[in-house]
Amino acid sequence: KKGSYDHFMQKEIHEQPHSLTTTMRGRLKDGGVLLGGLKEHLKTIRRSRRVVFIGCGTSYNAALAARTFVEELTGIPVTMEVASDLLDRQGPIYREDTAVFVSQSGETADTLLALDYALENGALCVGITNTVGSTLSRRTHCGIHINAGCEIGVASTKAYTSQIVVMAMLALAIGSDQISTQPRREAIISGLSSLPGHASEVLKLDSEMKELASSLIDSESLLVFGRGYNYATALEGALKVKEVALMHSEGMFAGEMKHGPLALVDENLPIIVIATRDACFSKQQSVIQQLLSRKGRLIIMCSKGDASAVSPNGSCRVIEVPQVADCLQPVINIIPLQLLAYHLTVLRGFDVDQPRNLAKSVTTQ
Ligand code: UD1
Ligand code: F6R
Repeated sequence: KKGSYDHFMQKEIHEQPHSLTTTMRGRLKDGGVLLGGLKEHLKTIRRSRRVVFIGCGTSYNAALAARTFVEELTGIPVTMEVASDLLDRQGPIYREDTAVFVSQSGETADTLLALDYALENGALCVGITNTVGSTLSRRTHCGIHINAGCEIGVASTKAYTSQIVVMAMLALAIGSDQISTQPRREAIISGLSSLPGHASEVLKLDSEMKELASSLIDSESLLVFGRGYNYATALEGALKVKEVALMHSEGMFAGEMKHGPLALVDENLPIIVIATRDACFSKQQSVIQQLLSRKGRLIIMCSKGDASAVSPNGSCRVIEVPQVADCLQPVINIIPLQLLAYHLTVLRGFDVDQPRNLAKSVTTQ
């Protein structure tokens, strides 16, 4: 079933142009978005006081990547909850809330317990899952199947990108009654249609990422700085590196750098800075300058053609990715980091599809 690939994770990374296509199939219609599972609930969702995203691990990160554009396109405030932390705090969930549960498997114990809790508190509960017939799919009031195809590698890859795309469609559907944001919605819909092509393009970085991995093989740690739409990309890239390559890695807010992490910077610690074009670009340029003045060892992810804008004297390693609509950029930006984590794992001699101590579906608390 792995076909010409050595590992499921590798196959699933390379499958993304296809899985993104199946996620959107039949759902982008006549310049709008059609989500069969939500049709009857859109009015209730629009009236809710708040959207609460709930998930664990990669699924939480996908929701975090979506947060900004959901707020932008719907005007509804969004809060984020790691499922176990919501339960630990017994955090407030109200009848006026729409609680959106994100889970690839639909069977994660923490997420399902948080669902029981939100149901008890009277929230409208919406599921986003890859698994038809899963407990999440059955117990939520309504939802969307991401239709990414079965994911076998323990490290979630194609589900992550499909989850973000589904949440983009969710935001477009909720916001579809707003006239002022129509041009923005049209631009995002056209960006969605061209996303599979851009995913194919960014996958061509495979050998470049393998080479980068070989230069990081003996590092003890890897930092990833992101902000705005791509803060989630930093967290998710670091999660991939730690869970499969078994290397310490942290995703951080670039805006927090001066408030502590800067002390770690020296000529040895590799740091990935995500600096693709969006409203935060010039702020990321100044972060790069500050890191360089501390002799930081930088690997900069930028939009195609921006190498000299992010690394004026050519001293940094640069990963150039195709530019897409700003809010969809996280879908493209995570792919080189998935490839990097994959190659780092193989080169370090670890098990790609069954990382130490981990299970695909965490059905215990
Ligand atoms: C559905 C069919 C799809 C068919 C399409 C044709 C299913 C599973 N999907 O897709 O095969 O091609 O109509 O119009 O039969 N749901 C939840 N919680 C979740 C996820 C989904 O309650 O976490 C519910 C939805 O509200 C919906 C149903 O499950 O009632 C199916 O969801 P989804 O597959 O996303 O709907 P469609 O895309 O319309
Ligand atoms: C990371 C990973 C885990 C899962 C988490 C939630 O690659 O796979 O962090 O994302 O256990 O799983 P689901 O999405 O099945 O609820």
